[in-house]
Amino acid sequence: MTAHTPSPKFDLKGVLGGVRPRRNRRADWSRRLVREVVLTVDDLIWPIFLIDGDNYREDVSSMPGVERLSVDLAVREAERAAGLGIPAIALFPFTEPALRDPTGSESLNADNLVCRAVRAIKKAVPEIGIICDVALDPYTSHGHDGVLSGETILNDESVALLVRQALNQAAAGADVIAPSDMMDGRVGAIREALDHAGFLDTQIMAYSAKYASAFYGPFRDAIGTSKTLIGDKRTYQMDYGNTDEALREVELDIAEGADMVMVKPGLPYLDVVRRVKDAFSMPTFVYQVSGEYAMIRAAERNGWIDGERAMLESLYAFKRAGADGVLTYFAPFVAPLLKR
Ligand code: PBG
Repeated sequence: MTAHTPSPKFDLKGVLGGVRPRRNRRADWSRRLVREVVLTVDDLIWPIFLIDGDNYREDVSSMPGVERLSVDLAVREAERAAGLGIPAIALFPFTEPALRDPTGSESLNADNLVCRAVRAIKKAVPEIGIICDVALDPYTSHGHDGVLSGETILNDESVALLVRQALNQAAAGADVIAPSDMMDGRVGAIREALDHAGFLDTQIMAYSAKYASAFYGPFRDAIGTSKTLIGDKRTYQMDYGNTDEALREVELDIAEGADMVMVKPGLPYLDVVRRVKDAFSMPTFVYQVSGEYAMIRAAERNGWIDGERAMLESLYAFKRAGADGVLTYFAPFVAPLLKR
């Protein structure tokens, strides 16, 4: 069969001058050959939710396919991740409500859930990178990332605690400290404290351009803050009308010592990813957040879209926008489909 038999009525040759972009798309081998960006397992970071217990797992109802895992099961999943070739995991704790207080003091406990998980995973799977989120929200009774005074999140008081939280995680063995709190000056303060304490090799992945987003809803279910959060986070997370501001935030974090920067959420902010990558040429990451995951899963469950294809297509969008890697709850689902 000839694909492009010129019709006698409409002869496009004169118009096209022989140029036919569809030629390269005809065969699978050709499509593979001319593909510009490629997603591999090396691009994936898998966020994992932790909960207290033994051999215990529970579903996160707003994130079909995602669970909260006790430390022993998280170790097994880390082993599975390493086997799949996933370079790194990111840990997020569901803190027992009784352990939450206004200043998030459990974040400073050397034996808290995250620290126990870091130690256990490091011991069992030393080859996988462990990223720890720095922010007080899993630990505060009000669900904010910093210290609340009246209706204000105090910046410098919060940074002082975040620095101690980061040191606690580094001491437990975290490879990467990832401040997600959006306080001013926290990256520099954490870098200085890490260096001073001898953690010269502990990397910092800064949530630099983190927007105040509706797409974090299911995550807040997962760590148990959706019901407790007082107000919103718009006095510290960014306004979604801004992109120049994102560049200034990234610039500051780099100047303060960030090794890697991040844009969050993902799909609604691809333009920001592209601008950040082009402006700074830094290792640039993007977080495909809980709400983005939930939307694709929900549509899949309803039979409205092909979930697997939508997952791959969305992850490719991040690569196309210039991201070096993606934090995604799809990591364990997509990794088996990708080349090592
Ligand atoms: C906490 C934090 C949040 C996420 C990562 N770290 C939520 C928030 O800022 O409220 C969201 C991740 C997701 O939605 O998947 N500072």
